[in-house]
Amino acid sequence: MTWSHGYFTDLTYSHGYYREMSPLMLRLACMSAEIHPEIPENPTYLELGFGQGVSINIHAAASQGEYWGTDFNPGQAVAARRMGAACGTDILLFDSSFEELAARGDLPDFDIIALHGIWSWISESNRNVIVDIVRRKLRPGGVAYISYNCLPGWAPVIPIRDLLMLHSEYGLGQAQDPRGAIEGAISFTKEIIGAGRILSNENPYAAHQAKRLETSGRNYVAHEYMNADWHLVNFSGMMKSLEEAKLSFVGSSRFLDRFDGLNLTDDGRKLIGNIGNPILKETIRDYLRNARFRCDVFIKGPSRIQGRESRDAWYRQKFVLLKCRDEVPEKIPFAMGEVDLPQKLYAPLADALAEGDYIPKSLDDILRRPGLNGFKPPEVIEGLLVLVGANVASPAQGVTATVGDRCRALNQYVRERALVSTDINFMASPVTGGGILVPHVNQMFMNAEAEGKTTAEQLALFLWDFLDGIGERLNKDGKRLEAKEDNVAELTKAADRYLAHERSLLCALGVM
Ligand SMILES: C[S@@+](CC[C@H](N)C(=O)[O-])C[C@H]1O[C@@H](n2cnc3c(N)ncnc32)[C@H](O)[C@@H]1O
Repeated sequence: MTWSHGYFTDLTYSHGYYREMSPLMLRLACMSAEIHPEIPENPTYLELGFGQGVSINIHAAASQGEYWGTDFNPGQAVAARRMGAACGTDILLFDSSFEELAARGDLPDFDIIALHGIWSWISESNRNVIVDIVRRKLRPGGVAYISYNCLPGWAPVIPIRDLLMLHSEYGLGQAQDPRGAIEGAISFTKEIIGAGRILSNENPYAAHQAKRLETSGRNYVAHEYMNADWHLVNFSGMMKSLEEAKLSFVGSSRFLDRFDGLNLTDDGRKLIGNIGNPILKETIRDYLRNARFRCDVFIKGPSRIQGRESRDAWYRQKFVLLKCRDEVPEKIPFAMGEVDLPQKLYAPLADALAEGDYIPKSLDDILRRPGLNGFKPPEVIEGLLVLVGANVASPAQGVTATVGDRCRALNQYVRERALVSTDINFMASPVTGGGILVPHVNQMFMNAEAEGKTTAEQLALFLWDFLDGIGERLNKDGKRLEAKEDNVAELTKAADRYLAHERSLLCALGVM
């Protein structure tokens, strides 16, 4: 297809949601780097390459602002527009290429330009078009978010990508449909890695990735490996590419990446401490923790936020839990392995966030809670950033009636879709301004409740009828449960948990 510039378009992309792109998370990324978060209450937002449009639609529903997006795959643009229409947002979604979008005369100046999972899979000329859009259309003070596969973590996987591509370049899968061609490329790769024992001995991570191909979703394999372009870069290379766009680095929007004390060895930390240049420092950090993926936040023209202004902004900032209190982990995985969270701080912090049926609380409120008044504000802020980074908590916002209505409409769309498909596992929260993981089972329990079912047994039977209707069964300990009673017993346990715990959290998050 000529319009696709070598981008794989035969299988559509999965329905992922990326909260790092939400205006509230981007604001927090700036604040935690002591950079003035210039993002206004009603930002003008552009997402490039929105895929199925789950992230942009959720952000347009759950946050204020004007949302623009493009993805040149028309099938995906249709699906994304359908979701947008269902929730009554004035979102503007196009099926233009980046080049066509850049040529439009009616683009506003944007406060945020975001792209997730794009940079590594497009040609150099398309990357230049993106830099040009950011240079011309991101207003001074505006924030850019770019995620990408990085070095050194992906380097050992180069032979796997090469083998998958060689299979299609030499026409070995030509007679097959797209799925058959991918199966063929995977078998070819596994066979060669299996036979070339020297390669797998010397590069065990390549062998591990080849094995993982067996169980990876075929759409993922297609979009990760089978585009004409696969661009691996380190952080310093990324900064060079962005020079023309006048961007400065803010920090990672995956907050756990920021804690050197928990990600690096003592030697690594000492080494980093001796590097003065911030770009070299950030690049070497990736080599020390073998980073594979970066979610970078940049700003055009940073200004420092400090002193009283910074303190006031932090004290006003609200936070909310994303997990039930009993599911808040006591260990969190960092680059060097699992780290025990000191419960002297984290237990009262989680209690404070859970108190009052999970209602969001400002830092000012949190600092006054029992057990926390002995801690200094920076210690509590660090704790909150760890919980946000681990997807256990989120920054929160005040809820307006319009945002509440739009989220309700979007969530109804997702629930109705749950009756025919299991592909969207996120719903919109007017409290977090973003998406919340709501697995298909819980979406179906919500559907059951909408039909007047109230007890765990009724919810479980509703879901059983659905599963039975499509010939599905639950799996337990890797085994398919065939008998109705076994399925209903498991579903009843899930429904019990939903009614006793998850439901109140979903209510506090405004998801129901
Ligand atoms: C890997 S997917 C990521 C989708 C989405 N951002 C996500 O993370 O779920 C890349 C997307 O970029 C789109 N794309 C690639 N090249 C493009 C171009 N030149 N113009 C517009 N869209 C493009 C593809 O259609 C695809 O949906």
